[in-house]
Amino acid sequence: MLAMTAPAAPRRIRLTDVGPRDGLQNESQPVSTGDKIAFINALSLSGVAEIEVSSFVSRKWIPQLGDAAEVFAAIERLPGVVYSALVPNMKGMDAALACGVKKIAVFTAASETFNQRNTNASIAESIARFEPVVQTARNSSVQIRAYISCAVACPYEGPIAPSAVAQVARRLLDLGVDELDLGDTIGVAAPGDIDALYDSIEPLVPAAQTTLHLHDTRGTALACVLRAIERGVVSFDTSAGGLGGCPYAPGAAGNAATEDIVYCLERMGFDTGVRLERLIDAGLIIERALGRRLPGRVFQAETSSRCNPAS
Ligand code: HMG
Ligand code: MG
Repeated sequence: MLAMTAPAAPRRIRLTDVGPRDGLQNESQPVSTGDKIAFINALSLSGVAEIEVSSFVSRKWIPQLGDAAEVFAAIERLPGVVYSALVPNMKGMDAALACGVKKIAVFTAASETFNQRNTNASIAESIARFEPVVQTARNSSVQIRAYISCAVACPYEGPIAPSAVAQVARRLLDLGVDELDLGDTIGVAAPGDIDALYDSIEPLVPAAQTTLHLHDTRGTALACVLRAIERGVVSFDTSAGGLGGCPYAPGAAGNAATEDIVYCLERMGFDTGVRLERLIDAGLIIERALGRRLPGRVFQAETSSRCNPAS
């Protein structure tokens, strides 16, 4: 038996599975709408608090998610689970509202170069696009998450100063978003970077009102989650099986695998609300659809005897 550090009282950790969006946006081979729906419905049964279902963005930019409306129309939305989607502008907001979406995520970055490549806009221009989106969302009782990508480093500009992240955070909070989501887009963070980031962010907003979105390119995501929990963060984005990446962030691997985070946190006495078996069922659905092994460590360990998609 491993020695585990248990917190004084079990604390709830909120997980958003972003695999259907962040994972599938990066797949070079098409995934059928039916497979996406089956994957999301299986994730719904796993106990994750939120599922990032898709993106209402330009099909020319992200063809993989061009079926967002069809997916939203067909998934079974369970009470207690939040089903969210990325929205870059009013066109996306109108489409999201037409699908009955109750939580949106606008997205900008702390790096001008990344934001230009990702959304064809400067940081200021992207925030200007959000103004009517946020206003419409508030009038429609839709919750608003705001991503800041490149919160630690940029694939084009290198390390990003925490103060630059705080500047963007300030503008988004002034706009009236409900939640900040800080993205380590290319997965370079080590625990010290998480400290530096929160030293800069916490004067603006409590850590408990932020979400951390870690890509696990270098295997440091779990260490960063643990450090972030020490700093008071209770909400993380993860993806089933470690699916993921961003087409405009070359070399970025998937998000922290949901199973890895659930396994470790539950063994430490935290409560994620997630049933690992059900989560693995969901991962197997998308693994079969993709026809290749998913990279998540716990997923692989738990399924090595259950499934081999190549057979
Ligand atoms: P643009 O080309 O500057 O926009 O793109 P535009 O207004 O000139 O419109 C061009 C065409 O797109 C037009 O169609 C519009 O109608 C259409 P056309 O007349 O040429 O046929 N269009 C839309 N279609 C559907 N939905 C819309 C929409 N808007 C315009 N909402 C735009 C600007 C923002 C639209 C584009 O750059 C875009 O869609 N970018 C999305 C990129 C993206 O989704 N990247 C991945 C997500 S971010 C990420 O992964 C990071 C994250 O995980 C956190 C982290 O890891 O750090 C969140
Ligand atoms: Mg991401």
